[in-house]
Amino acid sequence: MKLIPLLIAFVLFVSCNENRVQTASTPTPEITEKEIIAPIADSAMVVSARAEASRIGTEILKMGGNAFDAMIATEMALAVSFPYAGNLGGGGFMVYRTQFGEIGALDYREKAPLAATEKMFLDENGNYLSEKSKSGALAVGVPGTIAGIFAVHEKFGSLPMEIILKPVIELAKNGYIITEQQAQRFEKFRPQFIEVNKGNSIYTETYKAGDTLKNIALAKTLELIVQNGRFEFYGGETGEKLVEFIKLKGGIFTLEDLEAYEAKWREPIVFNYKDLKVISMPPPSSGGICLAQILKMVEPYPLSEYGHNSEKYIQVLAEAERRAYADRSFYLGDPDFVSIPIDSLLSGAYLSERMSSFSFDAATSSSTVKPGVINGYESPQTTHYSIVDAFGNAVSATTTLNSEYGSKLYVNDLGFFLNNEMDDFSAKPGVPNVYGLVGGKANAIAPQKRMLSSMTPTIVEKDGKLWMVVGTPGGSTIITSVAQTILNVYEFEMNMQQAVDVARFHHQWLPDVLRYESERFPRELITSLEKKGYPENTESDPIIGKVDAIRILPNGTLEGGADSRGDDTAVGY
Ligand code: GLY
Repeated sequence: MKLIPLLIAFVLFVSCNENRVQTASTPTPEITEKEIIAPIADSAMVVSARAEASRIGTEILKMGGNAFDAMIATEMALAVSFPYAGNLGGGGFMVYRTQFGEIGALDYREKAPLAATEKMFLDENGNYLSEKSKSGALAVGVPGTIAGIFAVHEKFGSLPMEIILKPVIELAKNGYIITEQQAQRFEKFRPQFIEVNKGNSIYTETYKAGDTLKNIALAKTLELIVQNGRFEFYGGETGEKLVEFIKLKGGIFTLEDLEAYEAKWREPIVFNYKDLKVISMPPPSSGGICLAQILKMVEPYPLSEYGHNSEKYIQVLAEAERRAYADRSFYLGDPDFVSIPIDSLLSGAYLSERMSSFSFDAATSSSTVKPGVINGYESPQTTHYSIVDAFGNAVSATTTLNSEYGSKLYVNDLGFFLNNEMDDFSAKPGVPNVYGLVGGKANAIAPQKRMLSSMTPTIVEKDGKLWMVVGTPGGSTIITSVAQTILNVYEFEMNMQQAVDVARFHHQWLPDVLRYESERFPRELITSLEKKGYPENTESDPIIGKVDAIRILPNGTLEGGADSRGDDTAVGY
């Protein structure tokens, strides 16, 4: 690895027997010339987008709670302190591995309302009304997060919900300190909050970094949920208020939709990359399948010899990504509605045939890469957190409202934003969604269907033992950011913090462009790749992904990676 050990980029704050690493708020362009020290904890760790959420998750672990109790606390603490993506009004996915090596996945993804139709975002001439799937009440899918935390609690919880949510409710009541990045975001989105909601809320006030934001309405909603359980959200007073609000704003989901919602336990996608065993999210997320395809396609190439972010490395990874995203567009959707040829998509013979058209001389144009032929087949913004407890249980969870603050609709009375996840469906075949992703029939809208996701909560084993817990927000770039993070540690011998901090790139088949964190790649490299047929994305990407991960070191200690692109923080003990 070419990192020059020079500067210490992060500071360790040691307090109350707790190692907290406060990461820098902006990425460092010359990252390859810095030594980055990863936070280390002896027994347990939570890494998330906010210090408050990581701290509350760790508090639950210290009380003797397990990683699943901490998942519930962290998820809800993010809903309070990171309304950009943390939520009650959205959904998510969780992958777990217990201390006994049992693995599984939970799908608490939003669903299309019963009254949804395939063409609900098209006008009478078949034109796509793109704004309608992105903001306002029609964009809202039936939320799954509260069903998700109760499903986790029922199966694995060891502490009462009342204890788990106590510090979260206190956080909502006492408030959290607004960071610089957060203040800028509130400022940027305030006009949209006012326009979409036609009124004011705590999020239309003006804030500066250092101010305290309290959410009393959300504290009350959480108290009612503790008191009345899951039913409170899916049929009780909170559910009724939510449905009333949606109706008032012109939406279509009803109490029947809430009553019908269920989180689902699913079999994870499991595959080997060399001597690693990777466990990731199955459909309705495309994450696990695309991650497996990408890593299996690049496995035969000597990546460490090419060097991190070298021209050859970027080429081979981009070509694998191109082919995986082409398959994504055609084959993937909600497995409860479409049949997905998972075994064929992940077979060694199929993937090596997919890469047979690749040459280092020139890019394969996306116009010549169609979804692969499988015989017999019929047809940033999100947030991630990683948890390992002192027993050895691991949780990798990614949750979202889709875009920044979702549909921008804020339920004043209940204290939370609602998602705009309906935009993750393919509203019209071949027409890109907010992430530029195109899709087809497999991801068409249907009542009660779950929209295809890219979320990729992932756990990796090495030599049969827990080795890494990893995931990220970033829409379509989630999958490629997770792939690069695993490769950064495995192929390029980075520590966990370096692996999440170094510069990333991304290809997604269409549009046929290479996206870079452009300030962080040498201009000559970008130009050289352009000459080979890899045009640079014309809109610059200041950041790609925001990875939060934990690696288990051979001596059993935990090494955190809290992405310095955000306010992300690792807390452990
Ligand atoms: N809403 C982004 C995703 O699920 O991929």
